[in-house]
Amino acid sequence: GDDGAAGGEWAGRRVVVTLGGTREPLDPVRYLGNRSSGKQGLAFARALTALGADVRVIAGSVEVELDQAIPTRRIATALELEAALAEEAPHADAVIMAAAVADFRPARVEGTKIKKRGETGAPVIELVRNPDIIAGLAERFPRGTGPKLVAFAAETGDSQGSPEDYAAAKLERKGVDAICLNDVAEGRAFGQDENRIVVLTADGGRFEAQGSKDEVARRVLEALGEALMAGSP
Ligand code: CTP
Ligand code: CA
Repeated sequence: GDDGAAGGEWAGRRVVVTLGGTREPLDPVRYLGNRSSGKQGLAFARALTALGADVRVIAGSVEVELDQAIPTRRIATALELEAALAEEAPHADAVIMAAAVADFRPARVEGTKIKKRGETGAPVIELVRNPDIIAGLAERFPRGTGPKLVAFAAETGDSQGSPEDYAAAKLERKGVDAICLNDVAEGRAFGQDENRIVVLTADGGRFEAQGSKDEVARRVLEALGEALMAGSP
């Protein structure tokens, strides 16, 4: 942006932040969901606003109060999130994909409430894959042709690799510009206020930030601004 002094690289940039979890309906009263609180994404949205960015939030289900001052669209399902992003992303300088997207959804949404029926039986719920939304955006906008794409990942290490190994593989597989790794090995991150993020960029950059979600968001954004936005029109 033009206002380098006040807001660094984010001033005047249109940034879409997705946050919260998706809910995938089973019937009129039930859904498959996840424990995403929306806190992390909201911290990014607020920090970006403070840096002078023109922020648009797309929010799934959250356990926090959303910011009335930030224009916000609500979505429920992964497919709705995909559709909302298809509209918003072409106008954005960056997409910060903090939403927890369900990998699967029920193959059918029953029109009426699923009944117990009988004494002991239980239904088998067939699932189908949801689209990988951020990977789809990366395909639609190859690097350098559209908004900068930032994914998030919560990984645990195992005998096959470290959390960073898995995050690096995900960055590559999805074709995004950067990935923010939440190390969840010790039960951090979900719903808590203290946080550590390691950021990996497609051009091999690496930096980390630790502290409250607000502090982490600010530091990560400073670094991402330099790494991704500097010099782009
Ligand atoms: N994501 C997405 N669409 C999906 C699933 C995830 O856009 N259907 C995004 C998330 O919002 C996040 C990033 O991809 O920014 C990484 O999510 P994660 O669940 O860690 O990746 P997956 O590809 O789903 O891999 P995994 O099998 O580890 O869940
Ligand atoms: Ca997933």
